[in-house]
Amino acid sequence: MSEALLDVNALRADTPGCESVIHFNNSGCGLLARPVLKAMIDHLVLESRIGGYEAAAAQAERVSDFHASIAELIGCHARNIAFAGSATQAYTNALSAIPFQRGDVILTTRNDFISNQIAFLSLRKRFGVDVVHAPDHPDGSGVDVAAMVKLMRELRPRLVAVTHVPTNSGLVQPVEAIGRHVRELDLLYLVDACQSVGQYPIDVHQIGCDLLTATCRKFLRGPRGSGFLYVSDRVLNDGYEPLFIDMYGARWVAPGQYRPVNSAQRFEEWEFPYSVVLGCAAARALRAARGIGQHRGAHTGAWCLPT
Ligand SMILES: Cc1ncc(COP(=O)(O)O)c(C=O)c1O
Repeated sequence: MSEALLDVNALRADTPGCESVIHFNNSGCGLLARPVLKAMIDHLVLESRIGGYEAAAAQAERVSDFHASIAELIGCHARNIAFAGSATQAYTNALSAIPFQRGDVILTTRNDFISNQIAFLSLRKRFGVDVVHAPDHPDGSGVDVAAMVKLMRELRPRLVAVTHVPTNSGLVQPVEAIGRHVRELDLLYLVDACQSVGQYPIDVHQIGCDLLTATCRKFLRGPRGSGFLYVSDRVLNDGYEPLFIDMYGARWVAPGQYRPVNSAQRFEEWEFPYSVVLGCAAARALRAARGIGQHRGAHTGAWCLPT
C-alpha cells in the first residue's frame, strides 16, 4: 500500500476549509480543495487577460480531461459523458429526450429524489403519463425487486427510474439487480446516482442503465454548478436527443434539417462555464493523485481510506 494512500495530512492540507470547520455536509457539497480553486481562478484570470473564447481554446485539452476522467470513474467512454450544470439539469435533459405519449408509464420507487418526482408529475400534467411506484420490500432493504419486475412485465413502462442512494435515509437501492431485469425486458433505465458517484463504485455496464445522472460538487469535491449525464451507446444509436438541442449538439445540415452529433455532446450546449469544468477536471486529478477511490469499506462497499 503506497504512502500516498494513507496521507490524510496531505488531504487536509489540500483543503483550506479544514482549518476552520469540521464539515459533515458532503452530501450537500464537499469542501473545495486548493488545486480545484486554483484551476478555476487561473482560468478566470486567463479569460480576463486573453478573452473567453481564446482561453477556452487554450484549455481545450484540459476540458476534454473532464469527460475522460468521469468516463473512467463510471466505466464508459468519454463520448458517453455530457457536462451539465447540476444533476437535476442532467436528469430533466435526459427526460426531455423521451417522446412520452399519453398513457405511457414511468415506473419508479417510493424513495426517489423529490425533484425527479416533481418532473414526473409535470410530465403527467402536460403529457398524461402515469407514474407508478413499486412497493418497498417489507424487510426495509429498499424497493421490492420482485414486485418491481412484476410491474415491469405487466405495464411495459416507457421508463424505469431509480435513485441509487436516496437523499435522506442512507438506503442503497439494488440498482444492479433491477438493471438485470430491465435489460432482459429491453426497457429504458434512468439512474440518479447523485449521492453515490464518488462515494460508491459505479459501473454503468454492471448497473445496466441507459442514462445516469450525478453532480460533481458532493463526493467528487468539484465546484458548485457542475454535474454530468451518462448516455449509453444504445440510447445514442436509437436516436434519442434532448428536446431543445442546440448548434453544439446538432449540425444544421440543410435549411429544414439538423443532425444530432454522434456522442453525448448532443446533450450539452454550446456555452460552458469553463472555469467550473476545469475545476471538476482538477478535482478528478487530485482524487487520482491522492489515491481516493481505490479501497472499499468491508461493511458498506463504499469507497474509503485504507486503515
Ligand atoms: C439523490 C439526489 N438526486 C438529485 C439531487 C439533485 O442534485 P442537484 O442539486 O445537483 O440538481 C440530489 C441533491 O442533493 C440528490 O441527493
